[in-house]
Amino acid sequence: MESEKPVLDDFGILSGISETIVTTTRTTSEGSLPNAAPIGIIRKDNKVLVRLFKGSQTYDNVFKGNFLVANVVNDPLIFVRSTFSDLDHSEFDVVSAGGREFPVLKDALSWVAFECTSTKVTSEALVAELDPIFARLNRCVVSAPNRGFNAVLEATVHATRYLLTGDDEYLKLIQMYARLAVKCGDERDKLAMEMLYDLLEL
Ligand SMILES: Cc1cc2nc3c(=O)[nH]c(=O)nc-3n(C[C@H](O)[C@H](O)[C@H](O)COP(=O)(O)O)c2cc1C
Repeated sequence: MESEKPVLDDFGILSGISETIVTTTRTTSEGSLPNAAPIGIIRKDNKVLVRLFKGSQTYDNVFKGNFLVANVVNDPLIFVRSTFSDLDHSEFDVVSAGGREFPVLKDALSWVAFECTSTKVTSEALVAELDPIFARLNRCVVSAPNRGFNAVLEATVHATRYLLTGDDEYLKLIQMYARLAVKCGDERDKLAMEMLYDLLEL
């Protein structure tokens, strides 16, 4: 399904903060490279925003290109892998629309491509307003909230903070969410937690 002005509710990006995998393009002298990372899309007071902290590839790509795609994904392994490493090129599709080419994830349940406008840059981050221009719904999945999947997301966020600061408080939180992922999650949630532990050498 593609349309000119997508209604975000139809593509799973709801009010509050939606945890998505944002795909962007890095332009190099050898051509365009796709990038993917977990990023929150903020919907508040009829605005859609993204806050990107300096230092990430996503920050650089959005700063230069003013464009991003928010992919709705329900695979916990993609969240862990794209936080700490590059996804394989075979995991992306390239979509052509409106005279543009942009990367999306093959495994996305849906995606929305946004133009970034009114970008404000501070010493730590950029905040951009997002204007939806293209979208596609690939699959509709009905699933009850699962605390195991949510625990993987929480643990992954704390892992990024642990790697930045080395603060043991984050380690305790990661261990708490790991217990929850094992108790409530499915096999992929447990695999994702194992991968996180391996990455952190725990
Ligand atoms: C669930 C989740 C949500 C995140 N949301 C954001 C965000 O909104 N903004 C941001 O700058 N980083 C966010 N991060 C951290 C980035 O994903 C992380 O810094 C990543 O390594 C950036 O990868 P890149 O260098 O390929 O862009 C989030 C991480 C997780 C696990």
